[in-house]
Amino acid sequence: MLKQIISYFLLYFLLPNSPSIPDNDNYAVIFDAGSTGSRVHVFSFDKNLDLLPVGQDYEFLLAIKPGLSSYANDPNAAAQSLEPLLKKAEAVVPKELHAVTPLRLGATAGLRQLPGNASEAILDAVRDFFKHESSLNYRAEWVSVLQGTDEGVYEWVAINYLLGSLGKNYSSTVGVVDLGGGSVQLAYAISDESAANAPEVSDGVESYVTDRVVMGTKYHLYSHSYLNYGLRAARAQNLNLSRGNGNPCVTNGYQGTYQYNGVVYKVSSPASGTSMRRCRALTRKTLRIEAPCSHRNCSFNGVWNGGGGDGFNNLYVTSFFYDTAVESGIIEANAASAKVRPIAYRDAAKRACQATIDNIRSTFPLIDGRDAPFLCMDLVYQFTLLVDGFGIDPLQEIRVLKQVDYKGSLVEAAWPLGCAVELLSSLK
Ligand SMILES: *[C@@H]1O[C@H](CO)[C@@H](O)[C@H](O)[C@H]1NC(C)=O
Ligand SMILES: *[C@@H]1O[C@H](CO)[C@@H](O)[C@H](O)[C@H]1NC(C)=O
Ligand SMILES: *[C@@H]1O[C@H](CO)[C@@H](O)[C@H](O)[C@H]1NC(C)=O
Ligand SMILES: *[C@@H]1O[C@H](CO)[C@@H](O)[C@H](O)[C@H]1NC(C)=O
Repeated sequence: MLKQIISYFLLYFLLPNSPSIPDNDNYAVIFDAGSTGSRVHVFSFDKNLDLLPVGQDYEFLLAIKPGLSSYANDPNAAAQSLEPLLKKAEAVVPKELHAVTPLRLGATAGLRQLPGNASEAILDAVRDFFKHESSLNYRAEWVSVLQGTDEGVYEWVAINYLLGSLGKNYSSTVGVVDLGGGSVQLAYAISDESAANAPEVSDGVESYVTDRVVMGTKYHLYSHSYLNYGLRAARAQNLNLSRGNGNPCVTNGYQGTYQYNGVVYKVSSPASGTSMRRCRALTRKTLRIEAPCSHRNCSFNGVWNGGGGDGFNNLYVTSFFYDTAVESGIIEANAASAKVRPIAYRDAAKRACQATIDNIRSTFPLIDGRDAPFLCMDLVYQFTLLVDGFGIDPLQEIRVLKQVDYKGSLVEAAWPLGCAVELLSSLK
């Protein structure tokens, strides 16, 4: 016992910087409950909301597998699985700041897809667990399934925060397209006038525009999650359209299957050969470019495009846009970000659509074997999404992004950072 007291005493007084933390530093603890695992992020900010290092990096990050959704029948076990993450995250935050440090959990794809009320039961168990086991600032509404719109908003906040454009006029901010597996998110700031002209949506549908105050400035944000238009979902839609016959987007000579959301699709290239031109036409159908548009301007599938403007002119694209650009040699493998033009995706597609399943790995040495049958399809999809979907000129410069250089360190521009910035902005 005495030994323990002495060691606590030593810890308290000898640990570098723990007693000297200024009162006006802020922390935020954000759980990202994803489909394959749970991760906790701890961020620290100074009084101006500039990031401070936590250890060696600008965040403390810890991950576990599996995700909450694999405990569908045992909500308490799901909640308990977060214990090691919570304890380690709490240990990073100075004790005297626990009570004012927000604790947020956002669940993404995996939990959204659980049948019935299984996801609500898991979230209830997590709320109960946080309430009783954590000394951080807990609120029931901070434990939730993230709507696609929120994911887009947080991603927008994260990137604009790291670029230093928050707090400025909306026309200095950048737009963000995040191409995930299941959905693609578009988010950008719009003018007062565009916000006033936003179309009404029916009950139960997320509205197109949300107003957010971040770092003291109010923004009207267009944010839309195009469900089933993520890269993996779009493959399924595209294959479903060709109904098991030869598909003009599939790599020459490939025969196999593709599974998405529990459905198995037949995958085979046509006898007449892979064709970029016919793949483009099929991809425009997949995107429903020609769907009726009841608003002034639509992107695709009848969805309002936000009206464009200064917040859209400078565009940053992430996630699969980055991965596919690396695989196909459009950008260098280790680049944190790079300038490209949409036409680069089409130029790469020309080569991918001509390759065969036997030579595609030597043509594109960085390709992941699982993507080999789909490189032509993925590149054509990304080009068509940008140009025909979002209306971007094929020659306009955009930026493909994975990380942002922030004060000499590379920081991942992911939603938990944007969430932390927004939470702390709203608490100030
Ligand atoms: C889930 O649904 C079941 C039956 O439909 C019900 O008994 C149970 O109370 C619900 N649980 C929650 C957390 O809503
Ligand atoms: C913000 O930008 C718009 C468009 O560029 C401009 O009309 C407006 O005056 C600017 N507002 C401020 C406060 O600078
Ligand atoms: C596949 O296409 C059929 C017919 O067009 C449609 O009814 C079905 O919902 C589609 N399935 C998927 C998983 O997209
Ligand atoms: C809206 O559509 C019109 C007519 O098709 C086009 O000229 C304009 O550039 C579009 N604006 C945006 C922001 O997409």
